[in-house]
Amino acid sequence: MRVLGIESSCDETGLAIFDTENGLLSHAVHSQIALHAEYGGVVPELASRDHIRYMIPLMRQVLADAGTTLAQLDAIACTSGPGLAGALLVGTAFGHALAASLDIPVLGVHHLEGHLLSPLLSADRPTFPFVALLVSGGHTQLMAVRGTGRYELLGDTLDDAAGEAFDKTAQLLGLPYPGGAALSSLAEQGNPSRFGLPRPLLHSGDLDFSFSGLKTAVLNLLRKHPDEASRADIAAAFQAAMCDVLTAKSLAALKQQASQQLVVAGGVGANRQLRQALTAGVAKLGGKVFYPELQFCTDNGAMIAYAGAMRLQHGMHDPTDVFTVRPRWDLASLAPV
Ligand code: KG4
Ligand code: ZN
Repeated sequence: MRVLGIESSCDETGLAIFDTENGLLSHAVHSQIALHAEYGGVVPELASRDHIRYMIPLMRQVLADAGTTLAQLDAIACTSGPGLAGALLVGTAFGHALAASLDIPVLGVHHLEGHLLSPLLSADRPTFPFVALLVSGGHTQLMAVRGTGRYELLGDTLDDAAGEAFDKTAQLLGLPYPGGAALSSLAEQGNPSRFGLPRPLLHSGDLDFSFSGLKTAVLNLLRKHPDEASRADIAAAFQAAMCDVLTAKSLAALKQQASQQLVVAGGVGANRQLRQALTAGVAKLGGKVFYPELQFCTDNGAMIAYAGAMRLQHGMHDPTDVFTVRPRWDLASLAPV
C-alpha cells in the first residue's frame, strides 16, 4: 500500500510517500522559518499562503523521487490537527481534492501521532509498548504508547511548552526566532553552575510540567546581570534546569509504566544536552532511548504518511471521514482499538 502524507499544521510544508512493503520512498520539506523570522513568531496568514505555494511543487518532487505516478497511490493521509486552522485547511483541502480525483481513501492524521510514531521509521526502532516524551514548540507531554492508536496521556505542561520556553527565553537573551538551537549553542559556552534556577514541579509527585516561572526567573537574572558575559551562563543555567526536569519526569514515567524504552520526539529532542542526560539516565535503568532521525524530529510529511499507513493497515480508518480540521485536538481522545 502506497500512501502520500501531507503535513501543513504550522510552518513546515512536508510531503512524503510511504510504502508498507518497501518503507519510505521519498520525502520533502519546505521550512518557513526564514519567512516568519522577522516577526519573531509564526504569522498564521503568511503560513497558509506559503503552504499553498509549495503544495504542488513538493507533491511533484516526492512523486518523481519515489518513481511513482499519482495512479499508483493507494491512499492519502493529511494532518487534520492540531495546529493553525488556515494552515491545516490547505493540506487537508488539497489531500481531499486529490483523493476525490483519484477515487482513493483519504484520512486525517493527528499531528502528534505522527511525532509519536516517527522513531518507527528508523531501522533501530522501539517495539510496543513504550513511553514517549513529546517536546515540541506547542507540546510537552509524556505518553504511554501501547500500539498504533493506543495512547494514554501520563503528563502534560500546565503552561508553556518546552520549545515555547526555549524560544521565549532565547528572545529574552536577544537571540533570533526560533531560538531553541541558538540558545543551546550559547549555553555550551556558559557555566551552568554559576546561577541556580528553579526546577519547577520536580518533586510534584506527578508527571506534569510547568515552565513559565522559569522564563520569569531568567528575566529577573537578566535584570540583575545585564552584562554580555553573563548571557551564556544564564542560557546554560536555563538549559540545565529544563534538562533536569524533562529527564527526571521521563525516568519517573518509565518506572511508573515498568518500561525500558523511551522515545523522544519533537524539535526539542534535538537538544544535545537533553539527549545526553536522557541517554545516561535511561541507561542507568537498563533501558534505551530512541530518537527519530534528526530530519524527522521536526515537522515532516514522512511521519504523517507512516501514521496514515499504519491506521489503514490496522483497519483504523473511518471510510466516512469527512473533510474537517481540528485546530485543538486531544491525542488521548483518539478512539482506542
Ligand atoms: O517539533 P517542532 O519542529 O515543531 C513543532 O512545534 O511542532 O519543534 C520546534 C521547537 C522550537 O521551539 C525550537 O526552538 C525547538 O523545537 N528546538 C530546540 C532545539 N532545536 C529545535 N530546542 C532546544 N534545543 C534545540 N537544539
Ligand atoms: Zn510538530
